[in-house]
Amino acid sequence: MPHEEKYQTLIQKNAEAELGGGKDRIDTQHKKGKWTARERIQVLLDDNSFEEMDKFKLHQATDFGLDKKRFPGDGVVTGYGRIHGRLVYVYAQDFTILGGSLSLAVSEKICKVMDMARKNEAPFIGINDSGGARIQEGVSSLAGYGNIFMRNVLASGVVPQISAIMGPCAGGAVYSPALTDFIFMVENTSYMFITGPQVIKTVTHEEVTAERLGGALTHNATSGVAHFSGKDDPDVLSMIRRLLSFLPQNYREKPPRLEPTDDPDRIDMALREVIPDNPKHPYDMRQIILSVVDNQDFFEVQAKHAPNIIIGFARLNGRTVGIVANQPSFFAGCLDINASIKGARFVRFCDCFNIPLITFCDVPGFLPGTAQEFGGIIKHGAKLIYAYCEAVVPKITVITRKAYGGAYIVMSSKHLWGDLNYAYPSAEIAVMGPEGAVNVVFKKEIKAAEDPAQKEKEMVEEYRNTFASPYRAAERGFIDEIILPEQTRPKLIRALESLESKRDRMPGKKHDNLPL
Ligand code: HXC
Repeated sequence: MPHEEKYQTLIQKNAEAELGGGKDRIDTQHKKGKWTARERIQVLLDDNSFEEMDKFKLHQATDFGLDKKRFPGDGVVTGYGRIHGRLVYVYAQDFTILGGSLSLAVSEKICKVMDMARKNEAPFIGINDSGGARIQEGVSSLAGYGNIFMRNVLASGVVPQISAIMGPCAGGAVYSPALTDFIFMVENTSYMFITGPQVIKTVTHEEVTAERLGGALTHNATSGVAHFSGKDDPDVLSMIRRLLSFLPQNYREKPPRLEPTDDPDRIDMALREVIPDNPKHPYDMRQIILSVVDNQDFFEVQAKHAPNIIIGFARLNGRTVGIVANQPSFFAGCLDINASIKGARFVRFCDCFNIPLITFCDVPGFLPGTAQEFGGIIKHGAKLIYAYCEAVVPKITVITRKAYGGAYIVMSSKHLWGDLNYAYPSAEIAVMGPEGAVNVVFKKEIKAAEDPAQKEKEMVEEYRNTFASPYRAAERGFIDEIILPEQTRPKLIRALESLESKRDRMPGKKHDNLPL
């Protein structure tokens, strides 16, 4: 055969492979409001940067007529490319081929790029749109999932791993995304669950739709399984690009630094007005975050879940930081089970990837109640303590108002080796709030007084003047400096720059034993 003919054969085979399951199935995919695997990869990656691998790989199964259902590349598109000019590895399950179901061959393709991502220390992105284990392949398909899980764990903490759910993701298939660092979901066209509505109806007699059970809102707001949701495929893909702009390629690198376009010495007098004089009144901590970070650019993570704690990425003078902040406008900023887990996982991610932590503290304590105690707030709260204790990245804290009890310690206090700890003059740092404190310590005096209500008021005032201020903590060196609110941005930037070469590490060990 002349070479020219061979070249034409390759061109033709490539075109066939690129059609996936064929035009009709592509049309069906589009009718559902979903893009194909290749369309998604094109939009995710920088223009013309995608290099595909294993385009002609075939499954080897023969049972149940599978030998007659072979598509070049099988149900996944894999390869590497660039995002913001930096290397990433990617897979996108192709629903047009046997519902994107996972054969052993599909898993081998995925494992190959996962291994390359780990060895080349570049982020890894998985786009999920699949009916799960390829039923006809039986245990081979299960083996494929196991092989993927193993690689997710090997890569954990080595490179950022990101999952996008852009269609079905059911059964044990959910566990690969769950093992990665961040999960994105598309509203209305994606869902994740261990057992679907039919099985649930049979076993527990509950009736629930797939969307309610495992849609984007459920996992972003209620379960906390997902971290981001977007309105459609392009929305989610552009959010992944944005997330990666904050992150380093691997645990050895620092995050990329952008040329700053916001004055590092910028002060904002409006910050003086944010915190209400009445300590019982709420305010939105986002106002402080947005004022302080570069160009008001804050990329919030898990915005709909546990809103009593705010987490997300931003930049200070061009450098990526991870922000953790109590939110006084929800549950008064109390820490509860969900907030502790949300915060802990984020702190650990930042520590894995050399992202300094900025903590804004306004926390009256842990949320009281039987639901919290029965749910194990003790061990879940311990996760946040643990995460802050073991984090060796620069840790800078600003106490804006309340910092009470155990929650004061948790929120990156000096005692958990916070590097630089600031407080506003409005800070109240004590074992507990004035009302609770006087009713414990001065119970007898209040009861014996002629006018108990008046006595209580006086004692509360005295307690507040004595303890509910930052000065006692500053006298002991637990606060490095008391600052005016408008100084927050310049102070944080200078602190961050002073910690640029911080070196610290946890003692050598096999691995830690985080309370789970
Ligand atoms: C083989 C599958 C498949 C699967 C879908 N297909 N899922 N083939 N194995 N798991 C095929 C269908 O037969 C069909 O092929 C094509 O993909 C498109 O599927 P449709 O059903 O027509 O699409 P749709 O109506 O959109 O429904 C999508 C779906 C449904 C909801 C995902 O296909 C479905 O319920 N699939 C089974 C899901 C499931 O139970 N998977 C196992 C989960 S347990 P044809 O040729 O007819 O068009 C699991 C264990 C993993 O995954 C354990 C890991 C540890």
